[in-house]
Amino acid sequence: MAARLLVLTDDPSLERLLTTALAADDRLLRVVGSHEEALGAISIEPPHLAILDANVPGDSAWAILAHIRAATGQGHVPVIMLGRDDARDKVRGLRAGADDYQALPVHPAELVARVRRLLSRFPPGGVVVAPVAQPSTTAQSATAATQTRGQVIAVYGAKGGVGSTTIAINAAIAFHRHLRRNVVLVDGNLQFGDHRVFMDLGNDRYSIVDAVTAPSIDADLLRTIVVHHESGIDLLLAPPRPEEAEHVSAERHHMATIVETLRRMYDYVIVDLDERLDDHCLDVISVADRMLVVMTADLSCIKNVRLVIETMAQIGMPDEMLELLLNRSNAYTGIGPRSIEAVLKRPIRHQVVNDYRTAISALNSGEPFLKGRPDAAIARSITEVVRAIEADPKAPRDAAPQPLLSATVHS
Ligand SMILES: Nc1ncnc2c1ncn2[C@@H]1O[C@H](COP(=O)(O)OP(=O)(O)O)[C@@H](O)[C@H]1O
Ligand SMILES: [Mg+2]
Repeated sequence: MAARLLVLTDDPSLERLLTTALAADDRLLRVVGSHEEALGAISIEPPHLAILDANVPGDSAWAILAHIRAATGQGHVPVIMLGRDDARDKVRGLRAGADDYQALPVHPAELVARVRRLLSRFPPGGVVVAPVAQPSTTAQSATAATQTRGQVIAVYGAKGGVGSTTIAINAAIAFHRHLRRNVVLVDGNLQFGDHRVFMDLGNDRYSIVDAVTAPSIDADLLRTIVVHHESGIDLLLAPPRPEEAEHVSAERHHMATIVETLRRMYDYVIVDLDERLDDHCLDVISVADRMLVVMTADLSCIKNVRLVIETMAQIGMPDEMLELLLNRSNAYTGIGPRSIEAVLKRPIRHQVVNDYRTAISALNSGEPFLKGRPDAAIARSITEVVRAIEADPKAPRDAAPQPLLSATVHS
């Protein structure tokens, strides 16, 4: 079915650009120049997607957006607002229910990509097909059990490539597979999150940006945005494009709000943190029960871990909350676990064995080893980690430390 696109603009050059860019066999474009014309076009045939130019006089784009959002019974009509490159306008557009806001001048290829993405998420035909196939059964049963207070585990890699994403993903699956827990895994690497690669998921799946651009963040919303993975866990993905991460606001504590909402829906909320210890990370850490610091046995990691320990102490994190996990523990580096413990003056609480072949082939096939090769030594090692965590739940913290300003521990 051809998609009907309605474009509202009174700018002839923008009209030309959009008409050329959006021309395609499976798209029917109707361009209108005023509020009245737009209302007329909508009443004759409601569009499948609307592109509204906020510069049309008389706040017409806003009025049409409100009109589309007020209409019921025809499924969700995605709306892209075009306007000034102004944060307040963007926020206003997204708050008013636009699915996307593009600053003018708009890049034709980017606009086409965004139109396609929205049309694949909300296909023409009247029925809204969300990319999430079914609401997650795990999330449903967790909410039915009313107000659980799930444990929040922040997984932090002391430097890039130590294996924090590998551990976060496989630990999440292990909690579900071996301990029958309801688990949601959040990709906290907002710009370059790679869970889609690790789990073989397309760019059309919802992301955390769909949560933060909605009018309010609550359990009902998050239930529709998490992606139910075949391993049995739910995922809150990072956006497919780095610039979209800007929608997630540290000032408004989006990350903490999301994590707090998720912990009432799941037994475990596992967040794979960004390597930069930025405001979003600190926001997550401020509500987490446990921070798992993943390291390998080398000097630069040890240096970074020492800095992380100091920074966390400065922001008032209880000492017992931070647990060290030595990854690739049996790989020969010349530095053994005992000497790391001696230097850092704290125990290594968890160890995961080295198994590059299993780890890399899982990554390349898009099937985490905890699912595809649960008997591999590395999978058993991660299962031991989750059993140890389950056996040692953390009590709620009295006072959460206030998120700090950016504290980049290492670059
Ligand atoms: N225990 C392990 N043994 C061998 N290779 C591992 C192990 N853990 C992770 N890896 C590999 O290390 C690389 C980096 O892992 P990744 O999880 O992306 O790290 P990070 O998220 O910390 O940057 C990947 O190729 C992964 O397969
Ligand atoms: Mg990673």
